[in-house]
Amino acid sequence: MEFSRRSFLEVGAAMSASMNATVAANDRIRFACIGCGARAHELMAALMVHPQAEIAGVVDAYRGRRERALDRIKDTRGTMARVYRDYREVIADKSIDAVIVATPDHWHKQMVVEALRAGKDVYCEKPLTYRSSEGLEVIQAARETGRIVQVGSQGMSTATQVRARQMIQEGRLGQVTMVRAAYNRNTASGAWIYPIPPDAGPETVDWAMFQGPSGKRELDLARFFRWRCYQDYSGGIATDLFVHLCTTIHFLMDAKMPAKVMAMGGLYRWKDSRDVPDTLNAVLEYPEGFTVNLSSTFNNQSSSEASFLFLGTEGTLSVGWGELKYWPEGVREDNRWIVESWPKRLEAEYWRDAKVQKAEMPGLGKARLVEGGTEWREQGQDASIVHFWHFLNSVQTRKPYWEDAVAGHHAAACAHMVNQSVRTGRLVGWDFAKDDIGS
Ligand SMILES: NC(=O)c1ccc[n+]([C@@H]2O[C@H](COP(=O)([O-])OP(=O)(O)OC[C@H]3O[C@@H](n4cnc5c(N)ncnc54)[C@H](O)[C@@H]3O)[C@@H](O)[C@H]2O)c1
Repeated sequence: MEFSRRSFLEVGAAMSASMNATVAANDRIRFACIGCGARAHELMAALMVHPQAEIAGVVDAYRGRRERALDRIKDTRGTMARVYRDYREVIADKSIDAVIVATPDHWHKQMVVEALRAGKDVYCEKPLTYRSSEGLEVIQAARETGRIVQVGSQGMSTATQVRARQMIQEGRLGQVTMVRAAYNRNTASGAWIYPIPPDAGPETVDWAMFQGPSGKRELDLARFFRWRCYQDYSGGIATDLFVHLCTTIHFLMDAKMPAKVMAMGGLYRWKDSRDVPDTLNAVLEYPEGFTVNLSSTFNNQSSSEASFLFLGTEGTLSVGWGELKYWPEGVREDNRWIVESWPKRLEAEYWRDAKVQKAEMPGLGKARLVEGGTEWREQGQDASIVHFWHFLNSVQTRKPYWEDAVAGHHAAACAHMVNQSVRTGRLVGWDFAKDDIGS
């Protein structure tokens, strides 16, 4: 899919036009939200900005979240949504056109595939999968049913990232061989130790519904509300945070998958609360001709929470959340210290060479100011609102957006490769023919 500044402006214009339009109730796309936790509440708020969407139903394993979802929908739209007892009831309901899947990761694939097979379009939160091979099942279901899948790494819908992609594709950075991306935090909340609602217990929490395909354990509220900390439901930093970074890198660099991944990390600080690492470093090598360093620690946040550096022969692009900076490269050759160690006669000859004079003399003894650095700050719609605009557009036009099942599979699979490398201490390869982790 082609992105340009113009197309982004058109998106903006079309979006404000659509916001002003009145949409007849029976023309609205009827959504149900499967999993109404913290993220789903943000998503519901973002979706309800769009008049062509309606949230007709909700389902969640904790009573308080269902209650708050109903309140949110009523307060925003003045309508009552239906509460389903189980996600399978949502899937069986023919009056629902599309679902949001915002449950913990171990549920995603099953819910997405069942919804697609029942003819629904699906917006699934990242990571699309809990295991790499699940991505192939989702892609197959999307292809066979012709339904839309969009994955929720909303960062790629920001004007910042659309512009960054354009600059990289137009060659403003020259050849990019190195990308650095990081996600650093230093709070309990940042490390996913979220508060547990005081009314949580066997009466209000459906533990069996939460566990689903993860196996059978006794009720554990920490696992229920802080599921990212446990391998049974999540891949930790890699699937929670690196997946966003990989989505952006694939989008900006027009890249598919790394051929090889090597990663190291450990659980050094938040030892009592989890069985996933709290610090990770990964190196990914792409056949398109570049490498990526991903890093994350939950021990320090002095560098910004999430950021990227794209290093090219002609310039550097720093991509933050809502902030873009470009610096041109100010390179100059300087071999003085090398030739000063040669015999005097050869050094003198070196400086008499016209090519050397052209390349090295103008810079000697001079400092200069390099012009052409630029900075942008993003203003306007929140990324999730724009991301939903694309989803609604796809539902209407039947053309998937860039972050479809394949893009979602690949970004999540990078995270699974990182985890496999940390677990095994080995390099993990991608099998391009299978479109899955190599054996
Ligand atoms: N795109 C983003 O920026 C972003 C941000 C945060 C979270 N997320 C993603 O959103 C998803 C949800 O994360 P969260 O932070 O909202 O977690 P959460 O724990 O707050 O919400 C998950 C909800 O799912 C419910 N649930 C569990 N099993 C269920 C089932 N079988 N049926 C119905 N409901 C069930 C739980 O009761 C809970 O309320 C995750 O995949 C996460 O990675 C994305």
